[in-house]
Amino acid sequence: MSASNPEESPTSENSSAMPRHVAIIMDGNGRWAKKRFMPRIIGHKAGVETVRAMVRHCAQRKIEVLTLFAFSSENWRRPEKEVRLLLELFVTALKREVRRLNDNNVMLKIVGDRDAFPDALQKEIANAEAMTSTNSGLKLVVAANYGGRWDIVQATRALAAEAASGKLDPAQIDETALERHLSLYGMPEPDLFIRTGGEERVSNFLLWQLAYCEMHFTETLWPDFDGEALDVALNSFSKRQRRFGRTGDQVEKGCHA
Ligand code: IPE
Ligand code: IPE
Ligand code: MG
Repeated sequence: MSASNPEESPTSENSSAMPRHVAIIMDGNGRWAKKRFMPRIIGHKAGVETVRAMVRHCAQRKIEVLTLFAFSSENWRRPEKEVRLLLELFVTALKREVRRLNDNNVMLKIVGDRDAFPDALQKEIANAEAMTSTNSGLKLVVAANYGGRWDIVQATRALAAEAASGKLDPAQIDETALERHLSLYGMPEPDLFIRTGGEERVSNFLLWQLAYCEMHFTETLWPDFDGEALDVALNSFSKRQRRFGRTGDQVEKGCHA
């Protein structure tokens, strides 16, 4: 892993050319291990090291929010042993990393349906969130037992409950009303989506929030993803013109109406 120096990085300054929120599908751990004739869990362990480095790289580059897809609502379909080992690794990593995250002023938030997790994991999650809740540095969002469809469904359920209790007039439901119940409410929308591991799909990650997100796909397997690879993605992002439905001419003239 090459430690890239943020001072030398062309993207170290936070400007409009820099994303405020980067969302990553950390894919390729299994293939990384397989290439080395090692069990898949070794790839997942190497992936945790990459997470640690990426938190540092993002904080150095003044990115406000880093959202990482750690376990999808579909990952329960994996062999029972892999699921068990992944959950164990999640507990160990939380326990081991929370102090360091706190020392680095990182605010940790876990999003997803945590009810399905073992009690010990739920407790670690609650501890880690409570310990870091007032930190003002990087916001690290870990999506665990998360699915974009689940997120929209649980937000819809909350709206329906408000409507049923008479607190909300269904005619008033708009995008803002639904967004208030989504897991990432209060965070800036993701600007840059990165998927490592070569697949070019969203795999039920942030479906609602990716509407106008810039996409970056790389063949690099997650355990090999480093500061330099992040800068490649950031440089690509900085060269794009985000139009949000307008014409290029309008954007160049700075028309935001
Ligand atoms: C991503 O790596 C981590 C999780 C989904 C938990 P994979 O385990 O999907 O790795 P590949 O895609 O099999 O290489
Ligand atoms: C997406 O990766 C989920 C995470 C990285 C946590 P997968 O490896 O599960 O995605 P698919 O199944 O190849 O689409
Ligand atoms: Mg995969």
